[in-house]
Amino acid sequence: MTNAPAPAFDAVDIIRAKRDKKQLSADEIKWVINAYTDGTVADYQMAALNMAILLNGMSREEIALWTNAMINTGERMDFSSLHFPTSDKHSTGGVGDKITLPLAPLVSVFDVAVPQLSGRGLGHTGGTLDKLESIKGWRAALTNDEMMRQLDTIGAVICQAGSGLAPADRKLYALRDVTGTVEAIPLIASSIMSKKIAEGTGALVLDVKVGSGAFMKTEEDARTLAQTMVDLGKDAGVRTVALLTNMSTPLGLTVGNALEVRESVDVLAGGGPSDVVDLTVALAVEMLAGAGKDISEDEVRAALKDGRAMDKWRAMIAAQDGDNDAPLPVGKEQQQILAPTSGVLTKLDAYDVGVASWRLGAGRARKDDPVQAGAGIELHAKPGDVVTAGQPLMTLHTDTPERFERALATANTSFEIETDATPTPARLIYDRIS
Ligand code: URA
Repeated sequence: MTNAPAPAFDAVDIIRAKRDKKQLSADEIKWVINAYTDGTVADYQMAALNMAILLNGMSREEIALWTNAMINTGERMDFSSLHFPTSDKHSTGGVGDKITLPLAPLVSVFDVAVPQLSGRGLGHTGGTLDKLESIKGWRAALTNDEMMRQLDTIGAVICQAGSGLAPADRKLYALRDVTGTVEAIPLIASSIMSKKIAEGTGALVLDVKVGSGAFMKTEEDARTLAQTMVDLGKDAGVRTVALLTNMSTPLGLTVGNALEVRESVDVLAGGGPSDVVDLTVALAVEMLAGAGKDISEDEVRAALKDGRAMDKWRAMIAAQDGDNDAPLPVGKEQQQILAPTSGVLTKLDAYDVGVASWRLGAGRARKDDPVQAGAGIELHAKPGDVVTAGQPLMTLHTDTPERFERALATANTSFEIETDATPTPARLIYDRIS
């Protein structure tokens, strides 16, 4: 794909074509993306086109062209001078999803470099940078030189994506967010993959979440999204696979920034909840395989148990000015929710827990809102566990107790306890798509 100037088109003709279920040409797609990025196409015209795409879809070829046009609005990174192969992971986002934190240092133990360009949270899902910023002194913004040096010396970096990667996506995503068009599969796939392909990773593992706390509520939609992204990655020469994973209940036992860092450090110390450990290990094995390393699950688990992943984590945090030994912030006020009856916890809804944590101050409603590092929810039971009336089910944390009322309204209806159900833990990984 080149950046040669595309012929001029009329935005209205392109909107009408998609409205009438026609296929857009390469030149039309290139033009509309460039013209939207430079302001020639207005927000209301792009909003209409996005809605037509949401309703009528796009072919595989159109999605690839749309993705390439977005990539070509910005810079591409190049890791070919590194001493290690690169492998990255992207999650479509969920509640309690702190997997990037233990995963990046873990993979780097095996001489595969992990360039994790991450974002902040919006709405009920948390953002990796917000979590790491609860570590005293930790710096999200790195120059390209700092990032390359850290990848070459330590092998793992988690930092803020520079504004030069796929700038069209930033503008488009903000527009989709306020026009009810986030959920269009071609637009999600092109948004995620334009940034990952521009980032220049050699291999990519996608964690496509399914369930109430995810964008994709059904396995069928998640499968379509996963296959679309895997195809885009492969067409661009990136070795790409996807795991479909459960997001109907939160991952692990913590939701909220500092709480999730604490749990990630537990995993790096060889402990932590089994779902977080199992998913971290499964994704690490896939990332390593994508980089040409055939490392078994047992070998990966050993690096969590024997401190090698922890050493990488500490080096990674220190390189970005984080104080590994400073205590993590804790919410100033706590309230517990107790089990109203005895039985089996059959439901703990990811979306509701995510919204409750957000209401406690762990997330933001607008792009520039501050977040509370110590706010969030600790879970004391997970679906499949047997609980006794009066035992704590969750502890809510915040610095601002006036937030408890609205958070409790959601948290109190997030769970179900059944007296005669059989304890069955939730499935974690539904499928692998390559
Ligand atoms: N994440 C992205 O980067 N883009 C989307 O469209 C959805 C999730």
